[in-house]
Amino acid sequence: MQKGKKTVLTGDRPTGKLHLGHYVGSIKNRVALQDEHELFYMIADAQALTDNADNPQKVRDNILEVALDNLAAGLDPAKTTIFIQSAIPELAELFQYFLNLVTLARAERNPTVKDEMRQKGYDTNVPLGFITYPVSQAADILSVKATVVPVGADQVPMIEQTNDIIDSFNRIYGETFQKVEALLSPTPRLPGIDGKAKMSKSLGNTIFLADSVEEIEKKVMGMYTDPGHVHASDPGKVEGNVVFDYLTIFDPNQTEVEELKARYQKGGLGDIEIKKRLAGVLENLIAPIRARREELVRDPSAVMEIVRAGTEKTRARVQETMAEVKEKMKINYFN
Ligand code: TRP
Repeated sequence: MQKGKKTVLTGDRPTGKLHLGHYVGSIKNRVALQDEHELFYMIADAQALTDNADNPQKVRDNILEVALDNLAAGLDPAKTTIFIQSAIPELAELFQYFLNLVTLARAERNPTVKDEMRQKGYDTNVPLGFITYPVSQAADILSVKATVVPVGADQVPMIEQTNDIIDSFNRIYGETFQKVEALLSPTPRLPGIDGKAKMSKSLGNTIFLADSVEEIEKKVMGMYTDPGHVHASDPGKVEGNVVFDYLTIFDPNQTEVEELKARYQKGGLGDIEIKKRLAGVLENLIAPIRARREELVRDPSAVMEIVRAGTEKTRARVQETMAEVKEKMKINYFN
């Protein structure tokens, strides 16, 4: 650990390009944290395989995509160590020992896992790797002795599971890990462009960080507003109106947004006008990310070299943790 700096671990599953939901939920937070903290960013391919075991090509293809999205959005490899989960076998080793500290009932109680199982229609046919992925995630976090994990709201149960494992480990084997803190984004959950509670690739309601200006405009123009607001002169609702939700989150000029809300509620402000404003706001946010992404994508091997070097550095660090873990667990036979 670097003196005085807290260690942060954060990651994405490489299952698709990242979107605005990821941006406000975690990427923005990460980029802000990298100056004052020691930051590890993990591409969670082994976790992605827990529900994509039959689709390895998808996971492989998206390693580069999520690396590009994060670098384009401002992760700086000079400050942040980027690595690939599966390339550090010690993570699987730590996961195995942690599995002994978690009961099946505890694993099944995790609300995020429950939700995801329902979404994926697993019922009782859930892969063991999937139901135990929060335990694997605890291993990811503790392998570098991170104490801060920037997450979206859906990941809070993962942090609770991690802290339970820390309690058990420390009690049985002696003080080894410090408690972990979830750092929630001010906007932990961005609604989808269709008004559904969450922006998600599987729901098809996303705006990607790599979207073109035309795609952004098209998506914003199709956004859900207030179905009762037919003519510009009609009074409209602001609550549950995605365009206003987004303006509240993304528009740098909140005084004007407040004025627009008042005008909309009174009647006399058309959907087209607020949508044009939002398209402009989002384009201002995404344009520099898109430009940087286009620059980076010209040399994919340079991006992979950043990831390779980061993986090597992380592995050395994880090996230090494992030496301590194995000593504490009395399984250090040959040294
Ligand atoms: N579960 C996270 C997601 O779905 C990815 C992840 C894996 C992660 N391991 C992690 C996040 C450790 C934070 C810390 O996006």
